[in-house]
Amino acid sequence: MTIGKNAPPLLIFTGVRAIDPNCGLDGEIDLVIEAGVITRVGKGAATSELLRAEGARIFSGNHLWVTPAFVDLHAHLREPGQEYKEDILSGLRAAAHGGFAHVCVMPNTRPVNDTRAVTEAMVERARSLEGPALHPIGAITVGQKGSELTEMADLKEAGAVGVSDDGRCVTSSAVMRRALEYARTFDLTVIQHAEDHALTEGAQMHEGAISTRLGLRGWPRVAEDIIVARDVLLAEATGARYHVAHVSTLGSVRIIREAKSRGIAVTAEVTPHHLTLTDASLIGYDTACKVNPPLREQADVDALRAALADGTIDAIATDHAPHSSLEKDCELAEASPGMIGLELVVPLLFGMAKNGELPLARLVDALTARPSKIAGLEAPALREGKRAEICVIDTTRSITINRANIRSKSLNTPFLNQTFTGTCVLTMAAGKIVFDQNLPQ
Ligand code: DOR
Repeated sequence: MTIGKNAPPLLIFTGVRAIDPNCGLDGEIDLVIEAGVITRVGKGAATSELLRAEGARIFSGNHLWVTPAFVDLHAHLREPGQEYKEDILSGLRAAAHGGFAHVCVMPNTRPVNDTRAVTEAMVERARSLEGPALHPIGAITVGQKGSELTEMADLKEAGAVGVSDDGRCVTSSAVMRRALEYARTFDLTVIQHAEDHALTEGAQMHEGAISTRLGLRGWPRVAEDIIVARDVLLAEATGARYHVAHVSTLGSVRIIREAKSRGIAVTAEVTPHHLTLTDASLIGYDTACKVNPPLREQADVDALRAALADGTIDAIATDHAPHSSLEKDCELAEASPGMIGLELVVPLLFGMAKNGELPLARLVDALTARPSKIAGLEAPALREGKRAEICVIDTTRSITINRANIRSKSLNTPFLNQTFTGTCVLTMAAGKIVFDQNLPQ
């Protein structure tokens, strides 16, 4: 069984809104895809002759937004080892449903992806499915234990697009320095989960007035800021490429902005949930809102949105972290951190862009060209001659987040049972249709 299906010989989009800031596009135009390749882009591209062609599938109207398909820098697909939460098949189906053609997957699997063998197994499995492409991120340290560096050359050769101990921070300055130096020799980006564990022991949520009121141990902002500040200095000293995963604080934003202004090779990502939710969501002790790093305060959300808008934060990454009811239907202190995200990007963020709360061009860039560059991938683009990798959003169609509509095996999201207007209806990856709202999945 495969996810990807060959596209019909002719797909025509007429009078749709096409958005690809990296091709200078935002307007009502036509787009023609022949045998999985974008052949014509522009006003009048859908000629009457093409529209009459036998077997043509036609999409029309400016309620349809066409963008390059998305690239996720940060997802947990749980295979190998925790397939009851998610596996590569269900994870890539969820990705396709969310508009993604490329998914970079974190190494905190069981076993940890710290070897060529695990990297190769993941790549092989994904390839056989012909769905969105999977790109492994290898571990920085063996077993993500924070001490011994992995064989990064092996990981890279097997297909790793970066290294990270995500879920754990590389707290030792000496290990982080060596990791940056070593990764630099293989041109790999080091992705840090910035958390000083000494400051977050036993923490359940963001440290602030609400954690105090709820009587829960807090995770202070400074636990993230300290690591980002130190790492920026190490990145400067080593000349390596450094990327901050799931930025959550206004302090980190300030440090990253300053580092970029000094020309240091630092990049950063933010999740949809840190852009939309605050620690107030924990007032009902909802375990779906327990996430690492934690949901912060409105001032942080505002700083993250501003940083995304001005490019200080390069990319939007989902941190798709599926957990089953075993890990979530329990006391907050026992619950695992994380929420699903692959299928929520369009409903959550494109609605905000439509309302003017996020700049649309930056949103598309942060989901396509910028993460591609960070992962060293060729960016999906609405350009003639490219194999089609597109996401089609119907801005009038609504979606309710529930078992019937979500492809992920897990439903750990605080948006459960909420209805959003605007959803992905078609995704193409490598010229194939990997999600089609009009076909049974
Ligand atoms: O919330 C999170 N969940 N943050 C992480 O860093 C890890 C992730 C997971 O693997 O569940």
